[in-house]
Amino acid sequence: MEFQDVVRRRRMVRRFTDEPVTPETVDRLVHNAVRAPSAGFSQGWSFLVLTEPEDRERFWTAATPGSSQRDMSAWLAGMRTAPVLVVALCSKDAYLGRYAEADKGWTDRDEARWPVPYWHVDAGMASLLMLQTAVDEGLGACFFGIGAGEMPAFREAFGVPDAWVQTGVVAVGHPADGGAKGSPARRRRKPLEDVVHRGRW
Ligand SMILES: Cc1cc2nc3c(=O)[nH]c(=O)nc-3n(C[C@H](O)[C@H](O)[C@H](O)COP(=O)(O)O)c2cc1C
Repeated sequence: MEFQDVVRRRRMVRRFTDEPVTPETVDRLVHNAVRAPSAGFSQGWSFLVLTEPEDRERFWTAATPGSSQRDMSAWLAGMRTAPVLVVALCSKDAYLGRYAEADKGWTDRDEARWPVPYWHVDAGMASLLMLQTAVDEGLGACFFGIGAGEMPAFREAFGVPDAWVQTGVVAVGHPADGGAKGSPARRRRKPLEDVVHRGRW
């Protein structure tokens, strides 16, 4: 698929058919994810790939909010149909360690040096590559987060070490009708002139 078509067609998909995603496609998702840029080439990311029904069930049991202000049942009903979930995680320690090396020199590992948490930036970039790879494969995907309140249960369910935190989850599958629509159904894309400042703010 043309790159511009991948960019244009990518939309969050929140319901999937029961058609499986091939193992080759799952491999391509993670191969492409690690082509993302990373600060200092730290690559302080990890990807938890869930394709087995029992693993996905364990994910949703752990990650489904217990009590929420919003009724998420329609969203959940759609998202639970995704045959592939890839949780993107990152390690702050990996970055502090990498930047303490001689070529970077931040040997004090002071977090105040970091303009933004690059560990999440990099896992986000990898996630976008997975979203785009899904489109290129003729599939749909959705990026979403695990709630802070659900993180302990998620960590416990999958044995995720404390040093690793989630940036988000990429759900992938064949798009089906009827998923939750998401914000673009209610909000317009901001015009370029509102967000692009050329030469000066
Ligand atoms: C950091 C981040 C977190 C998001 N979290 C969720 C989420 O929890 N649930 C969801 O359905 N979509 C989530 N989205 C998807 C956005 O709602 C979506 O990208 C936005 O509405 C624009 O729609 P589009 O991606 O289909 O163009 C998230 C996107 C980003 C970048």
